[in-house]
Amino acid sequence: KRKGFIFDLDGVIVDTAKYHFLAWKKIANGLGIEFTLEHNELLKGVSRVRSLDIILELGKVEASQEDKDKWLLQKNEDYLSYLVDMNETEILPGVMKVLKFLKENNQPIALGSASKNAKPILEKTGTLAFFDVIVDGNDVVNAKPDPEVFLQAARLLNVANEDAIVFEDSVAGIQAANIAKMISIGIGEETTLHEAEYIFKDFTEISSTFLELLINK
Ligand code: G6P
Ligand code: MG
Repeated sequence: KRKGFIFDLDGVIVDTAKYHFLAWKKIANGLGIEFTLEHNELLKGVSRVRSLDIILELGKVEASQEDKDKWLLQKNEDYLSYLVDMNETEILPGVMKVLKFLKENNQPIALGSASKNAKPILEKTGTLAFFDVIVDGNDVVNAKPDPEVFLQAARLLNVANEDAIVFEDSVAGIQAANIAKMISIGIGEETTLHEAEYIFKDFTEISSTFLELLINK
């Protein structure tokens, strides 16, 4: 049966999660809100707008729409400044091998990301050509854990939800995949991603045997 492989971007393909963290930390600390790595887990996979709301909730800060818009812009400008020199060296370990294996085996591949900066990042890292379908933050209304982004990706790949395999580093993303009844694969820490069907520390732990197993499932 035809399978489809859906990849999240930030923290899965490319090591941008650390830049999102730095940029949000600057905004939060500027507002006198403490922002730890643990808080950051709440923001992974979540849209920019929702992320700011979560930070303001953490700090019990109320703000006007005007201020929020200003901080959203600041955050993105700061974030983009980290991406200026981005290249293929920021692709996470093992990712290229897995993408190449799937391509060689004619597997449909999609991006399913909440980011509005997805395309330039794929271009800069030279990974754009691997993707048959791209669904990103510009295409969806509802942020993960809402499954909208993955449902759209599966539909465009022309695969049934049960035949879609999702690689995710965020709790919200794993939840979204599970809600969509897709096969969820967590990339990261077991303690954080325990809701995933399979968990790997990184892509170097994903063997071709395992991928073949998924393809022929
Ligand atoms: C991904 C990241 C989030 C980020 C979101 C929006 O899901 O994990 O940390 O906030 O995308 O990204 P953007 O590039 O549009 O701000
Ligand atoms: Mg992610």
